[in-house]
Amino acid sequence: MDEIRITGGIPLDGEIAVQGSKNAALPLMAAAVLNKGVTVLLGCPRISDVFAMEEVLKSLGARTRWEQDTLILDTGQIHRVDVKRELGEKMRSSIVLLGSLLGRFGEAVLPYPGGCVIGERPVDLHLMALKQLGVRFYEEDGMLCAKAEKFAGGAICFPKPSVGATQNAVLGAVCAPGKTVIRGCSREPEVLWLCRFLNMAGGRIQGIGTDCLEIEGAAELHDIVMEIPPDRIAAGTYVCASAVTRGRGVLRKAPVSEMGALLHVYKKMGGQYTFNSGKLSLCSCGVKYPVRGLRTQVYPGFPTDLQSVLLAVLSTVKGESRIEETIFEDRFKVVPELRKMGADISVCRSTAWIRGGMLEGAKVCARELRGGAALVVAGLAAKGETCVENRHFIERGYEDICRDLSLLGACIRKD
Ligand code: UD1
Repeated sequence: MDEIRITGGIPLDGEIAVQGSKNAALPLMAAAVLNKGVTVLLGCPRISDVFAMEEVLKSLGARTRWEQDTLILDTGQIHRVDVKRELGEKMRSSIVLLGSLLGRFGEAVLPYPGGCVIGERPVDLHLMALKQLGVRFYEEDGMLCAKAEKFAGGAICFPKPSVGATQNAVLGAVCAPGKTVIRGCSREPEVLWLCRFLNMAGGRIQGIGTDCLEIEGAAELHDIVMEIPPDRIAAGTYVCASAVTRGRGVLRKAPVSEMGALLHVYKKMGGQYTFNSGKLSLCSCGVKYPVRGLRTQVYPGFPTDLQSVLLAVLSTVKGESRIEETIFEDRFKVVPELRKMGADISVCRSTAWIRGGMLEGAKVCARELRGGAALVVAGLAAKGETCVENRHFIERGYEDICRDLSLLGACIRKD
């Protein structure tokens, strides 16, 4: 079976360590292609998106091995540049292989990427950036083909920030001869971690953490060992789990410096927290205030990846809350499912109005990763039993949400 069953109404109280970050791990796995040797990723999350990327790398000729939560990638023998359609379509992040395959081999063939069904998700910015480095694109049999005919550094200016497109531009530019200047970059932590990783492996990137990166290309990368940073979205999900049950909870290794926007909202709702010796301690007994006028934004604003989970929390907070989604137009897909649990939410274009009240257990269906996590969070507060179908969507990003929430005191199991 592919379900999660939750008996709601128990205030959480327990302690867990936050898993490694999905969105940091995937581009680092792609970046490993640029090193014709061994890359060791410590604390790598054992999630299906990481396994899918591992399969893609193996299909290209890489050797991979796990030692507990360490992933060892030997990319010395990679000899193919074509990502098989059935592998690449499984996950949108396969698109970051474009930059690294071009960087190493000067060519790449990929299916148009899959991933969460949360809107259009075009790749025009990825292509625009790499064209500036001399890459030519064409389509063959529905596959995206790229050739770096005159591969060289260049000037890239993004009209709007994109995490994946910035990562692709960086991966390409690290190998392209000459200097590249990228303006309008995404400043999400996952871009920063990729740049740090590349510099540790011999890349020459300046301006890390700003919206303008300067890269001296033609770097020969060498072997590297790096720890995957903790997952700010998984940590944020567990803050919301504490909030929705008006419970408590301790998160070890929570990346609080990357969680400012969420913790600000948590406090506005009435939550309290302290951060000491790497432990985020939560007290959600006072969560009772609605949130009016929240917008999802690029980092350091409120992350779109936590919008659905917050929606679940606000469905239990008396009064009217309002959330505007500004990043992905289709991210309210979870609303009809939350309504089955009694949530009072109306959506008009990109804004959701939430009138909080009691939730009731129901049979609901996850349609994508973060919406699925939101249904689990709602189930923690709902009266009676909630059954969330399509657990596999949630497993794309959460190592074991049932294990973590059980450790935090929830009554939850896989079925
Ligand atoms: C990444 C994250 C995802 C997160 C998102 C926004 C990974 C694996 N995924 O996705 O969890 O929700 O950042 O923080 O790290 N856009 C274009 N053209 C493009 C590319 C993007 O118009 O070529 C638009 C998108 O439709 C969206 C916005 O730009 O509206 C931001 O998307 P982007 O930052 O690229 O998200 P991803 O990298 O796909």
